[in-house]
Amino acid sequence: MRPLFLCAGAAFVWASVAGGQIGPLDPHLNWQAWDQGQAERAENALVPPEAFDLPQPFEGLSGGAGSIRADESRDVFSEPSANMGFDRLMDFQLGNALFRKLWVASPASTKASDGLGPLYNSRSCQDCHIRDGRGMMPEAGQVPMALLVRLGMVGDGVLPGAPVPPHPVLGYQVQTFAAPGLQAEAVVGLEWAEESVRLGDGTTVSLRRPLVSVTGAEGAALSARLAPQMIGLGLLEAIPMLVLAERVDPDDADGNGISGRLNMVWSAAHQQMLPGRFGWKAGRATLADQTASALFGDMGLSNPLVPLPQGDCTAAQKDCLALPNGQEAGVRDGLEVDQTSFDLINFYSRNLAVPRRRGEGDAQVLQGKALFNAIGCVDCHRPAYVTHALPDQPEQSFQLIWPYSDLLLHDMGPGLADDLPEGLAMGSEWRTAPLWGLGLTAQVSGQFTLLHDGRARSILEAVLWHGGEAQGPRDAVVSMPAEDRAALLKFLESL
Ligand code: HEC
Ligand code: HEC
Repeated sequence: MRPLFLCAGAAFVWASVAGGQIGPLDPHLNWQAWDQGQAERAENALVPPEAFDLPQPFEGLSGGAGSIRADESRDVFSEPSANMGFDRLMDFQLGNALFRKLWVASPASTKASDGLGPLYNSRSCQDCHIRDGRGMMPEAGQVPMALLVRLGMVGDGVLPGAPVPPHPVLGYQVQTFAAPGLQAEAVVGLEWAEESVRLGDGTTVSLRRPLVSVTGAEGAALSARLAPQMIGLGLLEAIPMLVLAERVDPDDADGNGISGRLNMVWSAAHQQMLPGRFGWKAGRATLADQTASALFGDMGLSNPLVPLPQGDCTAAQKDCLALPNGQEAGVRDGLEVDQTSFDLINFYSRNLAVPRRRGEGDAQVLQGKALFNAIGCVDCHRPAYVTHALPDQPEQSFQLIWPYSDLLLHDMGPGLADDLPEGLAMGSEWRTAPLWGLGLTAQVSGQFTLLHDGRARSILEAVLWHGGEAQGPRDAVVSMPAEDRAALLKFLESL
């Protein structure tokens, strides 16, 4: 792929994807305002210089002025941005109620809450994003809920950027539940293969690799994805596109072994190709696109961007297509999730606050931060950005934030690879996971379920799974003295 060509100062951004041209972008999308290209660069020049052995100004405020104090509560990921005006809190609460709402299958007496399915993975957003944190791994014998299985027919290969054909019967995703009168479309099996890694100091760490199977999905490539945490997403959406593009280095021109790429994906919200930011392979460009696909694919609910009431029922699933839905002619826009509710869910998703850091001035944390830099973790887990000035989104506007991600795709090697491309992301490519909130994961979720399929049960396990472009930094963690590793982990826990 040719590198993204960005013309700062002109009102066009042209990107070359799979040989075709896309653009120009709509100048009213202020968070991408390319004609402010110079301003964006200037904003990001305000990021304090990387000083890895010292506390940096404002680095404790991971989510900028919207950061909240991290208390010991399990609900620490469920707070609104601290800089939210009182007049907007009501919308946050309404969005929260919709995020928690339990949908029911049609027909039902509760008209405002029906339309679930007919095939679905869960009845509410919250059941997967538990306390706005990660999903729970299914116990042995349990029907998976927060661990989704996507599928596609890869056959002899799919051209980069070309859509992967869905499975002819199961569609794009395996729904593990069904409305009354219908059987769930497939059974997902999950087993674990254990392996172990010996560290330089002689200790061994055991790793588990998921072995996922789906009945009736012969010939399809499978990708298991666990629901991620929900904090700071509006801030990630507000990072200037040009600033993300600055790190794109598909041919590793700077020779550091790291060749990040932007995923380019179709945005139904903006009717154009845009850089992907959300999902484990950066398959969605905006929170609205992500919400729409969750409503459609995970819960079978029609919404302003995907107005299809039968969810992921395929033409082969006639009994599924024949079941009633929750569309109501003449009632507002008739959709199962109308525009007002849709906007409130997005407002909520945009405003879940990032907790501030703990102990960022501690000597061991600083030692760990210096190591994080020295061994090259920082080449993908980029620390800081300044977000766009956004007059209509004061909470996200012009904030210095510390997500520790470049939001780019990286080849993470065969150990983490699935076989399912998504947009430009190939089977072994994943979006650098933001690391803010990492140290609070177990407090919120009761356990660690890190990486895209939740296989890692600790921060160290997550690091040991790194391969491909991250092989060097991972090997450095294996061979470093135990004391250094403890410092690195202490730093990661402070995020
Ligand atoms: C069945 C479980 C499930 C349900 C229900 C669900 N999600 Fe998700 N969510 C996921 C998974 C899995 C991912 C990762 C998807 C991917 O990698 O493409 C995700 C990703 C996301 C992301 C992107 C986060 C990031 O860091 O990139 C957002 C935002 C989100 N979901 C919001 C919602 C909203 C809003 C709802 C309700 C309308 C919802 N989800 C319902 C499982 C679920
Ligand atoms: C080549 C880019 C790259 C480098 C270098 C890199 N990472 Fe990552 N990191 C990623 C990607 C991509 C993921 C998500 C992988 C997945 O989910 O399969 C990730 C995930 C993680 C996670 C799990 C986060 C979560 O939410 O589940 C941790 C912890 C982490 N990295 C720490 C580190 C540390 C520590 C280093 C240095 C030793 C490092 N990474 C180096 C790209 C990188």
